[in-house]
Amino acid sequence: MDFKNKNVLITGASRGIGKATAMAFAAKGASVGINYRSNTEEAQNTLDSLAGDGHQLFQKDIGQKKAAKELIQEFISEFGSLDVLVNNAGISIFHDLEEVDFDTWAHAWENTFKTNLFAVANLCYWAAKAMIPHGGGRIINVSSRGAFRGEPTKPAYGASKAALNSMSQSLAKKLAPHKIYVGVVAPGFTETEMAAVTLTPAERDNLLRESPFKRMAQPKEVAHAILFLASEGAEYSSGTIIDVNGASYLRS
Ligand SMILES: NC(=O)c1ccc[n+]([C@@H]2O[C@H](COP(=O)([O-])OP(=O)(O)OC[C@H]3O[C@@H](n4cnc5c(N)ncnc54)[C@H](OP(=O)(O)O)[C@@H]3O)[C@@H](O)[C@H]2O)c1
Repeated sequence: MDFKNKNVLITGASRGIGKATAMAFAAKGASVGINYRSNTEEAQNTLDSLAGDGHQLFQKDIGQKKAAKELIQEFISEFGSLDVLVNNAGISIFHDLEEVDFDTWAHAWENTFKTNLFAVANLCYWAAKAMIPHGGGRIINVSSRGAFRGEPTKPAYGASKAALNSMSQSLAKKLAPHKIYVGVVAPGFTETEMAAVTLTPAERDNLLRESPFKRMAQPKEVAHAILFLASEGAEYSSGTIIDVNGASYLRS
């Protein structure tokens, strides 16, 4: 896979899966824009760890409605064009129906959908508007195994990722005539801060028992699938959802 002369924007790339994806694209020659929300020190460390040069940071809270247009415009004014957008940023909020009050429940649904779905929809809109006059591009959205198997203590998270899958497939159909290819990667538990924060030790033991690999995914294994969908030759895989869950949940 070769991404020389390709300009790649990755949301939520200061750490975790986004960071591993930024490192993988940079190692293959891409110029990478690292979006993050708040942790500039961490984002700067990620920037410093990338191979090659010309990479840049873009601080923006994508949960804000105006952020999508600003982020795409700022990226294009720095890089000249956008070849690949990876919508990776996501949040996961615990809101067990048996344990939370209504305000907490409603707040979790609003915030989760704002970041995991509405922000991605808005970014897809502005990215497509920028890619169409340039002859096309690629959009890769990071979903989750939770979209398929249910998330009993974080139902908004599962629902947001299921909606993300559906939206991605609708856009794959809509944008194919413009040579914009849309793919989805759906990881299972992956060794990042998100997994560390959301899993209790008992849940962690349980999930390792569920996994025939007896381990979580490494961020670079998720990045590998993202790069595949963004690569030359993967065009006809548009609309695909690639599971990266170590055969822990097999859907038909
Ligand atoms: N880890 C897993 O087990 C797992 C499993 C399935 C799917 N996923 C999905 O994979 C993606 C990445 O997860 P991860 O585990 O790597 O997450 P993570 O370690 O929690 O990192 C999240 C990244 O997203 C950024 N971010 C969060 N909200 C943002 C916002 N509103 N605007 C801009 N950036 C924002 C964070 O930046 P700041 O630090 O600056 O806030 C950080 O760079 C998510 O979509 C997640 O749902 C993860």
